[in-house]
Amino acid sequence: MASTELSRLQARFGIAGQLQFGHGPGGLAVVEVENAHASAQVALQGAQVLSWAPRGAAPVLWLAPPASLAPGRPIRGGVPICWPWFGAHASGADYPSHGFARSERWEPVETRALEDGTTWVHLRLPRGETSARWWPHPCALELGITIGAALELELITRNTGALPFTLEEALHSYFAVSDVGRVAVQGLAGGTYLDKLDGIRRRQPLGPLTLIGETDRVYFGTNAECLLEDPGLRRRIRISKRGGRTTVVWNPWAEKAARMPDLGADGYLRMLCVESANVADDRVTLAPGTEHRLWVRYRVEPLD
Ligand code: BG6
Repeated sequence: MASTELSRLQARFGIAGQLQFGHGPGGLAVVEVENAHASAQVALQGAQVLSWAPRGAAPVLWLAPPASLAPGRPIRGGVPICWPWFGAHASGADYPSHGFARSERWEPVETRALEDGTTWVHLRLPRGETSARWWPHPCALELGITIGAALELELITRNTGALPFTLEEALHSYFAVSDVGRVAVQGLAGGTYLDKLDGIRRRQPLGPLTLIGETDRVYFGTNAECLLEDPGLRRRIRISKRGGRTTVVWNPWAEKAARMPDLGADGYLRMLCVESANVADDRVTLAPGTEHRLWVRYRVEPLD
């Protein structure tokens, strides 16, 4: 993104001493926030939060090495937005994996320094030719980001057309972990899950999830909070959600990671995706004139 464009955004949306526009890892155009509670970077591409760390705490999100990041390429790490479909498209073989919202440039609508010291950033996906090609339904897509001791994201879809449509979505968070084989995820009970690595078989979750290999699971009916417990980092990440019924847990493990261009040498060991979503059984149908909100909050707590 040209420096003149960044300066224009800075003049309109910058907040002195708290929020500025610049170039981040891999040359991506980013919003950088530093407030009394936390620091964060959000790429305009995909409205993707790249990093977030409460003040004095270790980074909570995992991000691929800068060498594998470049404008126009899906960004591996942080919190990609999958929308309006999840994974491969049901019928279009050449449609991008996880939809197009993560590859498009979003635009700021408003930024605010809130009284409690947090920072609010509001972005929207402009309706361009690309999106019209993949998704003919008139609609509006926005993301509200609140950066503080907690990180909150709210993805809002509005149906502005005359016909209903059905969408899938995910806030595909990559959490930084000490060692993916030594963490546990709680809060996945409630419904069944689909194991994408086992013929998409439907299974019943049993207790907390610990990983011993490649994992790609879609848990339905999971409205409860999920806890990602990491004894190595002595922390627990508490993931709360509203408007989302699915939780996806993904890690490619060593063999698949070695075939991926953007995970880095030991990337798979240091990350775990616990995604708040509405996919497959839980996909959302929006009537004309209505909206749907998927809200998440991530918090870090000491693990005793
Ligand atoms: C997960 C999916 O959410 O994302 C996996 O469940 C997929 O099946 C993974 O492999 C990564 O997807 P991508 O398109 O970012 O490589």
